[in-house]
Amino acid sequence: MESSIRPVINWILLAETSLPPGWLDPPGFLAEAEQAVYQSFRFEVRRREWALGRLAAKKLIQQARLQPAVGAVLEPVCIEPDWGETGEELRAIAVLPAADQGPRVQTLAGSAWRDLDGSLSISHSHGRAFCAFAPGCEARTGRSFSGRSFSGRSFSGRSFSAGIGADIEKIEPRSAEYVQNYLHPQETFWLQQTARLQSGVMLKTLLWSIKEAALKSIRRGLALDPRAPVCLPELEALQAGGWHLARVAWDAHFTGGESFPDLAGWWRRLDDDILTIMGPI
Ligand SMILES: CC(C)(COP(=O)(O)OP(=O)(O)OC[C@H]1O[C@@H](n2cnc3c(N)ncnc32)[C@H](O)[C@@H]1OP(=O)(O)O)[C@@H](O)C(=O)NCCC(=O)NCCS
Repeated sequence: MESSIRPVINWILLAETSLPPGWLDPPGFLAEAEQAVYQSFRFEVRRREWALGRLAAKKLIQQARLQPAVGAVLEPVCIEPDWGETGEELRAIAVLPAADQGPRVQTLAGSAWRDLDGSLSISHSHGRAFCAFAPGCEARTGRSFSGRSFSGRSFSGRSFSAGIGADIEKIEPRSAEYVQNYLHPQETFWLQQTARLQSGVMLKTLLWSIKEAALKSIRRGLALDPRAPVCLPELEALQAGGWHLARVAWDAHFTGGESFPDLAGWWRRLDDDILTIMGPI
């Protein structure tokens, strides 16, 4: 029988306008290595966005670590930020860009920084930061190319690492080029069928959000063709509120032959945004 115990996914949504005064000016919660990255951005808007993402991630990690890492919880759990903590406590968590530009979380233990068990993903939109974190959840790793040569020798190529991928996307119109360049043919067909029941604007945003979360989950981002992750959301789910299940499969035609694990996750509409969290099954 399939176990009902699974990793708990926690999420947070932080708006710059909802912060108590003084948290971003200056961002005293950044660790020294983060300060260096923060200072390196040329544009103030990117500095603020990056700092807000760090603040949201740190608040999320700190509070999620106090909760059970596994449970029978079905849906992602919302974490409300606790503003009682000091910047010093948050400086003992560092969220730095890894080589693939995705987040790498370290915590200070004594005088040494150690990688934190768990999977984190960050997304920004219009002065808000949305983060998802699964404590204790190891990234699923593997080889995205493998097989046997004509001489019978086995080979394996590029490795992948799949964890949590999160995305926040404002519901807004997208062009005909978007459909042509970014959607898989099956998604375009699904869109034509479904657009009679739902606003095309909302559906296109939903597909894009699921794609971005999926591309972050496998840590490739837009380095991979966005037509590669294929998602055909359930029609009934589009009508109701709250979180809905979504699944993503990969079309090898658009991955250049690479294979990745199927993903499962959640999406919801919150006011004028779509929030999505995806991860390996
Ligand atoms: C990852 C990507 C899909 C994000 O989309 P976006 O709509 O621009 O931005 P979002 O706010 O939703 O997400 C940004 C966050 O994604 C995360 N991210 C970036 N690259 C990532 C990757 N390869 N894997 C997982 N997460 C990644 C970062 O945490 C980033 O926020 P931060 O820099 O403040 O820490 C996209 O920016 C991307 O692919 N970037 C990598 C660069 C690249 O390959 N460019 C190709 C240009 S076509």
